[in-house]
Amino acid sequence: MDKLVALCKRRGFIYQSADIYGGLQGVYDFGPLGVELKNNLKKSWWESMVYDNDDIEGLDSSILTNPLVLRYSGHEDTFSDPMVDCKSCNMRFRVDQVPESCKKEDLTEPRQFNLMFKTNVGPVDDGESYAYLRPETAQQIFTNFKNVVDSTSRSLPFGIAQIGKAFRNEITPRNFIFRVREFEQMELEYFVEPGKDESCHDAWVQKRLNWWEEQGVPIENIELYDVPKKELAHYSKKTVDIMYKFPHGVEELEGIANRTDFDLGSHSKKQQDLNIKANVLKNKNSNSKLAIQDDKGDWLVPFVIEPSAGVERGFLAILNEAYNVEELSDGKTRVVLKLMPHLAPVKVAVIPLKKNNNDIVQLAKKVKDELQKLGLGRIIFENTGNIGKSYRKHDEIGTPICITIDFDSLEDESITVRDRDSMDQSRMSIKDISSFVIDKFKS
Ligand code: GAP
Repeated sequence: MDKLVALCKRRGFIYQSADIYGGLQGVYDFGPLGVELKNNLKKSWWESMVYDNDDIEGLDSSILTNPLVLRYSGHEDTFSDPMVDCKSCNMRFRVDQVPESCKKEDLTEPRQFNLMFKTNVGPVDDGESYAYLRPETAQQIFTNFKNVVDSTSRSLPFGIAQIGKAFRNEITPRNFIFRVREFEQMELEYFVEPGKDESCHDAWVQKRLNWWEEQGVPIENIELYDVPKKELAHYSKKTVDIMYKFPHGVEELEGIANRTDFDLGSHSKKQQDLNIKANVLKNKNSNSKLAIQDDKGDWLVPFVIEPSAGVERGFLAILNEAYNVEELSDGKTRVVLKLMPHLAPVKVAVIPLKKNNNDIVQLAKKVKDELQKLGLGRIIFENTGNIGKSYRKHDEIGTPICITIDFDSLEDESITVRDRDSMDQSRMSIKDISSFVIDKFKS
């Protein structure tokens, strides 16, 4: 973990937020390379959900959330962790995370601590006009259920996908970006007929494992955890967690829950007419029936299968898998990030051999511009004048291809292409470079 943290800071993937003022615990900023990798990861998820499936729609809902949403979802009552204070070190811990150095007799009785952030809405701070920062992106998918059904004429089964920020006032944020207070989730709520939920749940577990493998997180480093009944969230009939071997231990990367008809049932009006199976709070405020009619005209509240992944945890797992230290033939070592090409923050670095030779520099810029227009992601014009140093830097940040423009390039319009993983170098004509690069990133 220390090596990953150091690399992230040194190369501009991740910085502690408000570093210059001592930081803010559990909050991080993504730097120039971090934002690219994060965007690529989110894009890959979005494409695999919304574009590759013909029955999934996208959504981008608000972060500020009406308290009623989180009352009927159960979060106001149950979204809390038990915590204890240590009278000796004056620190507060989650019950399951008390360090061994704290003696049992110094600990207070556990108390529940709600994890939601509350904020004032409007100019008057009267204690009444407040909203929550959403603790999961899921809830506004449920509250928009009828809007999406009405505007897309969807029938079962279908899903709504969303990527966005979520906020939790974690008692003990830790392990770098693994447990933080501000993070992003990639969540799908997939609506199915009751009775078809269990097979659909199994299918989504498999699909999600395949997707993680495509991001460079191999199945050998994953365990599935069938969450025992007593640990299930209040809305869940069954949850399977995808557990990954993080540098600090095996922990949850993604949860795939069968949320039954709990959420739509909870947020619905006229609950008594809907044959809701879950145990829901009586809703006195909703103005919408979150149900659909079957062929016979009977109202039915769909069950929900929810694959919910954390972007930061995915980022960490992917970096951990990609990080390699290799011995070279000259006895030196190199750090190389063997990221899947579609995730690499920089796709290609174009490097002029001489930084002060105008002809070489102009040709390199021309090649950069041509490759940039392919729309594959960031192409960098790297004018350091030091090829060896540039290769080392681009190995360390995971750039799959480096292209060098030299004096021969001016004569015969050829360039040197270097592969990150094999370090093989080959000569190629400039006119073939676009199709070569497209092939490399086609996956
Ligand atoms: N809508 C369901 C839900 O929010 P969750 O298991 O609480 O379920 C889903 O969260 C995913 O969000 C987790 O698997 C994890 O990847 C990510 N996540 C949750 N809390 C997090 C935190 N404090 N920091 C970073 N990621 C977190």
